[in-house]
Amino acid sequence: MNAKTDNTSMASDVPFKITDPAKIPAKRYYDEGFYSKECEELWPHVWQMACRLELIPNIGDWVEYRILDKSIIVVRSEEGVKSFHNACRHRGVPLTQESHGNCGQRGFTCSFHGWRWNTKGENTFVYGKHLFDEALLDPKDLALHPCRVEEFGGCAFINLDDNAPSLRECLGELADRLEAHGIDNLRAEWWFAAELPANWKVAMEAFQEGYHVMRTHPQLQHAAPSLYNARYAGLGDAIDTQKSTKQNVDAQFAHMERLGRGMAGMVHSKEVEIARQLLDVELPEDPNEGVMMWFGMVQDQITKQLQAKGEPVPDLNSVAVSHPLEAVEFIFPHFFLLPFFTSMSSYRVRPLGPEKCLFEIWSLTNFPEGEEPEPPQEPSILPYDSKDFPEVPQQDFSNIPHQQKGLHAEGFEYMRLAKDIEGLISNYQRIIDGYLAKVEPDKLAKAIQQLGGNFDGKIKDLGF
Ligand code: FES
Ligand SMILES: [Fe+2]
Repeated sequence: MNAKTDNTSMASDVPFKITDPAKIPAKRYYDEGFYSKECEELWPHVWQMACRLELIPNIGDWVEYRILDKSIIVVRSEEGVKSFHNACRHRGVPLTQESHGNCGQRGFTCSFHGWRWNTKGENTFVYGKHLFDEALLDPKDLALHPCRVEEFGGCAFINLDDNAPSLRECLGELADRLEAHGIDNLRAEWWFAAELPANWKVAMEAFQEGYHVMRTHPQLQHAAPSLYNARYAGLGDAIDTQKSTKQNVDAQFAHMERLGRGMAGMVHSKEVEIARQLLDVELPEDPNEGVMMWFGMVQDQITKQLQAKGEPVPDLNSVAVSHPLEAVEFIFPHFFLLPFFTSMSSYRVRPLGPEKCLFEIWSLTNFPEGEEPEPPQEPSILPYDSKDFPEVPQQDFSNIPHQQKGLHAEGFEYMRLAKDIEGLISNYQRIIDGYLAKVEPDKLAKAIQQLGGNFDGKIKDLGF
């Protein structure tokens, strides 16, 4: 039997499988059986952003990462970042009760009978050793059960599957592109979280296209209508040639400023202020040429002025050409980044049940070396409809729970996708089907690579 036939026969086990890539069955977002299948076949095999590395700068610093019923410790040891399943090897009590901390010289001590482990996972103490059969105290078996961990982009990623392809293999060129943009140097400025009454995929998909901006974020569309009308409505060009260069530049700036305020960090206020200095520069009369030149000047000045302050930022004009990024870049399955100039927002979504998820937002920026502030140790958890969220996520969150309800409507069998602009949703969902159907890991990794640069993208052939 060849691999293809093999996959097809296994695929028949996938409930609510996608058979037409433009149609996504609604039950995938609330059916208990589908959710269980994801818990068994997806989450234990994928790379998951477990923590930001600035939370664990010193030896002994650790963070707990929870996914479904699993608890994982990520810890900085003398040998670098390690990760372990959070269970005492005696009778299974979790070794940490808090979300983060420093385990100190003594390492992790179990709260039940006091056994201890160092940051490398080696057992260092068993109280009343003579009481145990020696065979039960084999050091290898007594060591904390390790979990795979890889560092990328200022984060530790874990994978519960020892046979999964590496994170790098899954990311492909996206890893290089993000690194060229200096992702390793970014630090969290703030960290918010909310529980959303929605399936985790509904939450993810609200960020997989910009087609919703006109209605969900009208203030962005009003600031630069030609930008959105050209891209989504098929009307005119992104640069309005009926208007002067100055008018076009003002619209671009208004959009940038509104996006900066609305996301509170993705376009950082320090970058908006640099762009503001350039509002009255001489530019070519031709609006296309003029706006392009203005953007080049803004990127050049942001680079130079932030570098002069000691920030480790890349040359924006050169990386824009050598390593272009899309407005949103996804690291399958539950983490994504919104790069703009030198700062980024990043989001993580974890399932808490078929119709509930935990949504987190970090705002990331650069600091001069040695001047990095203390990072937020925990997210500020807010109700999802809190007015304390920045404007843009507030607007996104207002749709998500409504959509979850609508998916249950009688007669609503499937979502219908625009094949050229909502393709990422289909590609994402079909990779999930690939996991549920146990497609070969290498094929899944290749498919995941295709998600890079696919924001607002087309439905793709994933090879399975
Ligand atoms: S359960 Fe941990 S020491 Fe006994
Ligand atoms: Fe949005």
